[in-house]
Amino acid sequence: EIVKDFFKDSNLFCQKNILITAGPTYEAIDPVRFIGNRSSGKMGIRLAEEAAKLGAHVDLILGPSNESILSHSLLNVIRVESAQQMLDEVTKLQSKIDCFIFAAAVADYKVESPSQEKIKKTEINLELHLTKNPDIALTIGKSKRSDQISIGFALETENLFENAKSKLDKKNMDFIVMNTPKVKNSAFGFDTNQISIYHKDGRILEFELKTKKEVAKDILHEIYQLQCR
Ligand code: CTP
Repeated sequence: EIVKDFFKDSNLFCQKNILITAGPTYEAIDPVRFIGNRSSGKMGIRLAEEAAKLGAHVDLILGPSNESILSHSLLNVIRVESAQQMLDEVTKLQSKIDCFIFAAAVADYKVESPSQEKIKKTEINLELHLTKNPDIALTIGKSKRSDQISIGFALETENLFENAKSKLDKKNMDFIVMNTPKVKNSAFGFDTNQISIYHKDGRILEFELKTKKEVAKDILHEIYQLQCR
């Protein structure tokens, strides 16, 4: 009931600047090929739409995604391809942001030197040398002001709590949203998600399987409790 009342007020996040990263990143191999992942961008996009509806100014930094996005005067969408481009856009906006939500499935590795020309097939095997991509949430976590809050996601298939807790600490987050593709119809690609929220003070909240729109509202409700009250 409390959550229901909360969403009646469309000015709750008035004056707040929220930045959301979403979708996969594509790391070029050559002009026509890339390394990517199966993220649809849906969770981050739903968060951006719901935050704008609650009055926040939202910058959505979105990797390649075919998902349609509600247009809203408070929602600014910035399209990027690679992790480096995503980091560059986040850094540009960093100082004005009140709340960062890192929902992107950033590729951990990129091709060290992508070919300028299309790679031709030969008789021998092809080897790609991969180097580490920047960690966007970690970069912000290390440099953010104490009044800026940071929320992350952890997609784990094993040792859920342990792994989530170590990401939360390492990346200096206020809470981390845990989901696992092992729950049916949850996480990557689906319209529904089953999450738990792990706060930095140790509180753990468990939620039922819901549509990503409803999950977005639960997450924003937690952010409101932290920042706007
Ligand atoms: N993240 C990020 N930049 C990266 C990698 C991750 O901003 N290069 C963010 C994600 O958006 C997410 C959180 O960090 O909010 C955790 O991402 P995840 O991929 O689960 O963690 P990793 O640190 O990459 O660990 P691993 O892949 O080994 O589980």
